[in-house]
Amino acid sequence: MKKRLIAYFSRADENYFEGELKYVEVGNTETVAKKLQKITGADLLAIRMETPYDRDYHKCVEEARKDLEENARPRLLDLPESLKDYRVIYLGYPNYCGTVPMPVLTFLESYDLTGKRIRPFCTHEGGGMGSSESDILKSSPGAILEMGAAIPGSKAEESDELLEMWVDSFYSRGD
Ligand SMILES: Cc1cc2nc3c(=O)[nH]c(=O)nc-3n(C[C@H](O)[C@H](O)[C@H](O)COP(=O)(O)O)c2cc1C
Repeated sequence: MKKRLIAYFSRADENYFEGELKYVEVGNTETVAKKLQKITGADLLAIRMETPYDRDYHKCVEEARKDLEENARPRLLDLPESLKDYRVIYLGYPNYCGTVPMPVLTFLESYDLTGKRIRPFCTHEGGGMGSSESDILKSSPGAILEMGAAIPGSKAEESDELLEMWVDSFYSRGD
């Protein structure tokens, strides 16, 4: 049971970049997840919503905030039946309203992650990891939450060095 998985939630479409709203083809967290895949050789899994958040930024914020307030678990598409082959899960997501997006909690709660090592990486616009780490742990009791990486969304394209150092910190401890 040696395999590693990178599971990430990310949204393309309209978002803020250096103070301006614009549409993009690839979300920041997806950019980071793909870099991480090159570094680690881990399997890659996109966490996708059955009904994605709106392409319009402001509508997306409204929807995501409502899901947070209602502690919703939005339905997901195409989940693997089991994660039993994975020992390490790199878990990527954007900071939404100071924590993890609710679809990521749907993902975590779809499995028994007891004993698995979760390594969270979060892209953000100033809020860092927020309270995402403790919220992740509540949804994956028994998992081992390891040191996370916070990456400013606007620096996703330049995150290679930071990611290498982060990944190396685990390898230097024998993993
Ligand atoms: C619904 C929503 C809520 C957000 N809330 C926060 C926040 O509370 N703190 C923060 O630093 N950034 C916040 N952001 C900015 C995103 O975390 C940032 O742009 C991230 O890199 C987006 O990742 P993605 O392109 O992979 O979806 C929010 C963005 C959205 C769309």
